[in-house]
Amino acid sequence: MTPSDPLDTSAASAAFPDDFVWGVATSAFQIEGASAEDGKGASIWDDFCRQPGVIADGSDGRTACEHYHRWPSDLDLIANLGVDAYRFSVSWPRVRPGGGGAWNEKGLDFYDRLVDGLLQRGVTPYLTLNHWDLPSELQAQGGWAHRDTVHRFVEYACGMAERLGDRVASITTHNEPWVVAMLGHDSGIFAPGVRDRATAMQVSHHLLLSHGLALQALRQSGCRSQLGIVLNLSPVQPATSSPEDQARARLEDGLLLRWYMDPLFKGAYPADVLAFLGADAPRMEAGDLAAMAAPLDFLGVNYYTRAVVSADGSWDKRRSGFELTDMDWEVYPQGLTELLVRLHHDYPVPPMFVTENGGAFKDGYTDGRVHDADRTRYIAQHIAAVGEALRQGVPMAGYMVWSLLDNFEWASGYEKRFGIVHVDYATQQRTLKDSARWYREFLQRCQAARDVNALAGAGV
Ligand code: FCB
Repeated sequence: MTPSDPLDTSAASAAFPDDFVWGVATSAFQIEGASAEDGKGASIWDDFCRQPGVIADGSDGRTACEHYHRWPSDLDLIANLGVDAYRFSVSWPRVRPGGGGAWNEKGLDFYDRLVDGLLQRGVTPYLTLNHWDLPSELQAQGGWAHRDTVHRFVEYACGMAERLGDRVASITTHNEPWVVAMLGHDSGIFAPGVRDRATAMQVSHHLLLSHGLALQALRQSGCRSQLGIVLNLSPVQPATSSPEDQARARLEDGLLLRWYMDPLFKGAYPADVLAFLGADAPRMEAGDLAAMAAPLDFLGVNYYTRAVVSADGSWDKRRSGFELTDMDWEVYPQGLTELLVRLHHDYPVPPMFVTENGGAFKDGYTDGRVHDADRTRYIAQHIAAVGEALRQGVPMAGYMVWSLLDNFEWASGYEKRFGIVHVDYATQQRTLKDSARWYREFLQRCQAARDVNALAGAGV
C-alpha cells in the first residue's frame, strides 16, 4: 500500500487536527420503528408510506431497525467504533404528538436515556430537530406551507433545548431543507407528496425562517449547545460547455445552494433565482430575511455526489466512465473538496462539518462478514477529500458517516443499504461490515496521533 492510498489509515489520519470530530449519523424515522408506541403521534412519513406505489418495496417505518427498543446495544456498537460523536434526530411527533399542545413524557424520556447513554459511553450527542418527520396534525393545517408551523417549530426547539440542552453538544434545526421543499412539495416523491413549485418555495422560506427564529429563541434562553443547520450541497456542473447547459447549471446551483446559503450568510435570496421563479417566489414579511441570517456556530454539509445539469433542467447522475453507487450516484470525491473550498471562498462560513457522507452498495452477507470494499473505498476517498480541503485552509470541524446502520431509505424503502453496520431485518441482527472495521481502525490511528501530540504538548 502506498502512502497516498486513501485506504492506508495511518497516512489518511495524519491530515486531521486533534480536535477534529469523527462521527456516525442516523435519523429517527429511518431507524426507530415503534411508530405508534408510548404515545407517539403520526408523522407525514407514516402517512406517506401508506400511499400505494410511493415506496419502492412497499415498506414503511413501523419497525425499521427497532432502535427504539434496541438503543442500548446500538449505543454499545457506536462506542465500540471509537467515534467521538453520534448525530441522531428527534422525532417531533414522539415528543409532542400534535406538533403543538401537550408534550409526551414517555417520548422525552426516550431521548433523555439516549443522550445519557451516549455520554456514559464517552460519545458526544449531536441532535437534529427536523429530519423530515413532521407531525401529521401540523400537515393537516397546511404543514410547512403554513406560517403557523414556523412558530410550532420554535416551541419544539425550545422544549427540546430545555430538556436536553445541558447535555447535547450541538443542535441542528433542519436537515436538508432543499429536500423537504423540492422532493416533498415540487416533485412530490417524498412526504407529504405535494407537486407545486410555489408551495415548495414557500416551504423553503418557512424552513429558513423557522431556523432563524429558533436560533434566536435558543440563544435568548441561554442554550449552550452549538447551533446550526445542515444543507445538502453539491457542485453543479453543466453537461456540456454549451451556453444553454451552462446557464441552466447556474440556475440549478441557485436553486440548490445559493437559495439557502445566500439568506443564511448574505441576508438575501439570489436575484437570478427570484427572477426565474417570478410568481412562484415565496411571500415574505418584513424582518424575515434578517431573522434567517442569525449567526451560526457551525454549518453542516451533506455530500454524496455532484450534479450534472442539461439545458432542459434534468440532473444526470450517471456519467460514463465513473463508478456508480447502488443509487446510481456517481462516486465523485473531488467534488467534496471543490464544494468545501467554494463555500469557504464565497461565504463567511463558520466551522463546517460533513454531517453525512456515504454510499449505498449491493452488499453480500457471507458467513458473518460483509466485504464492502466499494463502500470502504468511497468513505476513505471522501475523508481524504476533506483532508485536502483542510490543507487548502477550509475550516473543517468534523466528518460523519451516513449511516451507522442499514435503514429505511425513504422512497427506496429497505432496498438501498447505506450502513457500515449490516442489519438483517428478519432477525434485527447487526453485523459490522468491513467498512466499519476500516473506520474503527482509522479512528484508532487518529486517537494514537492525538495521544502522541498530547504527550508532546505536555513536554513528555
Ligand atoms: C440524505 C438524508 C439521509 C439519507 C441520505 C442517503 O439526503 O439526509 O436521511 O437518506 O440522504
